[in-house]
Amino acid sequence: MSGLPTLSAVRIAADRVVLRESRESDRDRLIELRTDPEVGAHIGGPNPREAVERRIDEIGMAGLTDAPGVFVIADRATDAFIGTVQLTAVDADQPGHLADNTEELELGYLLHRDAWGAGLAFEAATAVLRAAAAELPDQPVILRTQTANTRSQRLAARLGFQPVRTFEWFDAEQTLFAADLHSFKA
Ligand SMILES: CC(C)(COP(=O)(O)OP(=O)(O)OC[C@H]1O[C@@H](n2cnc3c(N)ncnc32)[C@H](O)[C@@H]1OP(=O)(O)O)[C@@H](O)C(=O)NCCC(=O)NCCS
Repeated sequence: MSGLPTLSAVRIAADRVVLRESRESDRDRLIELRTDPEVGAHIGGPNPREAVERRIDEIGMAGLTDAPGVFVIADRATDAFIGTVQLTAVDADQPGHLADNTEELELGYLLHRDAWGAGLAFEAATAVLRAAAAELPDQPVILRTQTANTRSQRLAARLGFQPVRTFEWFDAEQTLFAADLHSFKA
């Protein structure tokens, strides 16, 4: 269980997207996201539909975002589900930290395939980081992504994260990125 606080907001509005809690009406789009082979290509592969549905049944749609710092990204005009973004503490015993045995906040993002290439992940991530920078003390934020995940690497760089080092995890080379939280202050 993490003791590192993350941001407390449950809704954040940006230009084209809104970050909000998950709803029952997001279910079909969430299943599409989690079963898409292209979305899963660098994060362990696609999940079988049955497994995704079983998991949703276990936790309920509301369970997707019930932890602080976890949001659905929705289209601000239509409220349609676009993906998820999170700023949450990484357990100290996972690989890919800046400091050994230390919890750190990590940014993560997953976008439905039909929303790629429009700057929406950048917008959602920026909104979360700005809100966190306004609320929390300055601290490092990390981002871990497969080195082969070029879209995610480009996004990390555009957001202002710096590559720190590479490491092996899940039989693949990963890159650890880091940035100071207060560098995202609006
Ligand atoms: C990683 C991921 C979120 C990146 O999504 P993305 O849409 O490429 O990221 P951005 O929001 O930064 O959009 C940037 C792209 O939109 C384009 N774009 C178009 N209109 C734009 C606008 N108005 N503003 C900004 N960018 C715009 C940019 O040119 C850029 O395209 P390029 O990378 O081909 O040059 C997405 O590929 C994904 O969900 N992948 C699967 C899950 C995953 O691997 N997650 C990471 C785990 S570590």
